[in-house]
Amino acid sequence: MAAALQPRRARLLLFLGLLLHALARGAVEAAAPFRARDVLPLLPRRLAWQLMGATAHSAVDLLPSFVGAVAPGGAPAAWRGACFAENEAVLSLTPGAGAGAVGRNGTGGGLHGNTSSGLGGAVLHLKTASPESWTCMDLYVFATPYRIAWDYYMRSNENHTFEIKAWEEAAELEYVKQHGIAVFLMPSGMLGTLLSLIDVVPLFSNTGWGQDANLAFLQKHMGTSFQKRSQPWSANIRKEDVHSGDFLALSKIRGRWGGFQTLEKWVTGAFAGHTAVFLKDENGTLWVAESGYENKKGDEIISMTPWDEWWGMALKDDSNPQIALLPLHPDVRARFNESAAWDFARSMYGKPYGYHNMIFSWIDTMSDNYPPPLDANLVMAIMSMWTRLQPHYASNMWNEALNKRLGTEKLDLHGIITETERRGLSFNQLLTIPERDDWEYSDGKSTTCVAFILSMYKAAGVFAPFTESIQVTEFTIRDAYMLKVFEDNQTRLPGWCNAAADRLPFCQILGEYKMDLPEYNTIEPYANMNENCPSAPPTYSRPARC
Ligand SMILES: *[C@@H]1O[C@H](CO)[C@@H](O)[C@H](O)[C@H]1NC(C)=O
Ligand SMILES: *[C@@H]1O[C@H](CO)[C@@H](O)[C@H](O)[C@H]1NC(C)=O
Ligand SMILES: *[C@@H]1O[C@H](CO)[C@@H](O)[C@H](O)[C@H]1NC(C)=O
Ligand SMILES: *[C@@H]1O[C@H](CO)[C@@H](O)[C@H](O)[C@H]1NC(C)=O
Ligand SMILES: *[C@@H]1O[C@H](CO)[C@@H](O)[C@H](O)[C@H]1NC(C)=O
Ligand SMILES: *[C@@H]1O[C@H](CO)[C@@H](O)[C@H](O)[C@H]1NC(C)=O
Repeated sequence: MAAALQPRRARLLLFLGLLLHALARGAVEAAAPFRARDVLPLLPRRLAWQLMGATAHSAVDLLPSFVGAVAPGGAPAAWRGACFAENEAVLSLTPGAGAGAVGRNGTGGGLHGNTSSGLGGAVLHLKTASPESWTCMDLYVFATPYRIAWDYYMRSNENHTFEIKAWEEAAELEYVKQHGIAVFLMPSGMLGTLLSLIDVVPLFSNTGWGQDANLAFLQKHMGTSFQKRSQPWSANIRKEDVHSGDFLALSKIRGRWGGFQTLEKWVTGAFAGHTAVFLKDENGTLWVAESGYENKKGDEIISMTPWDEWWGMALKDDSNPQIALLPLHPDVRARFNESAAWDFARSMYGKPYGYHNMIFSWIDTMSDNYPPPLDANLVMAIMSMWTRLQPHYASNMWNEALNKRLGTEKLDLHGIITETERRGLSFNQLLTIPERDDWEYSDGKSTTCVAFILSMYKAAGVFAPFTESIQVTEFTIRDAYMLKVFEDNQTRLPGWCNAAADRLPFCQILGEYKMDLPEYNTIEPYANMNENCPSAPPTYSRPARC
């Protein structure tokens, strides 16, 4: 199914992946945020018929409507659906059987295949009655801050059950006891769109099954080969051999970060999903500077971490990171102005990771390939559901960005949609208004991981003499590792690097699989670099001097 997906579809899925990832991050460590019903792929084709656009009068009609929250032990929730006039639901908790049902196939080899044992799950019992017609259906989304699942009902006077096999963690159970599971009635035409997400679901599962899904996805869509490395899988780094400006490329292949990076790699053509950079202080202490460090509050910020602490976290990271160290070329290192790099890093310290730029730079080309409002509508739906579940987060995440696009302030999502319509724009058109570099959000100017490093390079003189004519916000991770600024003489790589055994042109310092960075270290910087480069799977071919 995924093979038929096109680049624009990919961007949309990535966008959704980003939303899911970002939304999950505040509340959960190891969540599989999306969970489709296993039966969904078996749906008869004829259910895909009702196109919602045909019947809607206003985009606001296309929003999911919150019909109730069902908590265990409470009075039954009752509501009126679009198809069935009478609906009722109760929730009963099921005891933990130690089954650890993390995914259908989830427990094999997973570090965390066991986390949900003992917590139990729940069964939602629903009754639907008094349909408007014989063929209508109601489509529901059931959500907690830890998961989204969906189901649909067509028959009257039936007892339906919706099973949650296992809570993600104790906090989810606690949330549900207090707030219940939120039930949203969806426009039934949304079904096809929900179905198209099925490929993406397993990518986020923090299990052996989830990891296999990530590897298979990258093999199939990017031609990545995952060859096992020779041992040892983690290098014994000698700090003396590492210098300020040396680059770290990370590739995570499991869990919520893994799934997110997989989609990001696919869209941008990069074979790494995160980056960081080394800095040494005047006392010879080694630090890792990065944008996207997750602090104790669960916010991702720009941070400097002592190397030993950073490495300790990497070794314990359950997203199974593969990490490469790309040392700067000695000539580049010679002109690397360390104090300017430190000044830059200190000036950025504590600022937020660039979610705002990131989301919108990825969907800039999403346009008329899909029948509007289908795709933009799903985005809108997810935004609206999460606004209800995590209001503070949602407003921070996208309301502000959407307001900027309209030139308005402090409108909520409904207000934004109404205003968009009043101006004769579709929600899709609103989403495609490009981000402007000079927009500043309430949490400050934001920078993605690679833009942070390349800005530091710029400050340190790495791009001389093109410093002024290089716009680093145009660079992807792939563009960064293709830059010809890294060590090109394998015999000069440190011995602990283990590069010779794996025949790599850089040091891989962690990971079970060989990292492959195609066209690594090949393009000399030039003026206005990367301001006009297309990037389309599966070849991502890059015209010279674009
Ligand atoms: C479980 O995984 C195995 C191997 O990874 C696969 O062959 C099998 O089809 C999977 N089963 C299900 C139900 O997904
Ligand atoms: C799974 O959980 C049970 C009970 O908490 C524990 O005894 C067992 O060792 C765990 N297994 C693994 C593989 O972690
Ligand atoms: C549905 O469940 C109720 C009890 O909750 C029962 O009385 C009724 O017969 C069931 N209906 C069907 C169609 O099974
Ligand atoms: C370097 O060491 C000196 C003396 O121990 C200390 O005062 C200074 O703060 C250190 N510099 C940094 C950046 O840690
Ligand atoms: C390095 O950068 C600092 C500013 O942090 C500047 O004062 C100094 O002149 C620069 N050194 C060189 C050699 O350019
Ligand atoms: C690579 O480095 C080694 C050791 O410094 C040196 O002997 C050799 O000439 C270099 N090779 C090239 C192609 O520069």
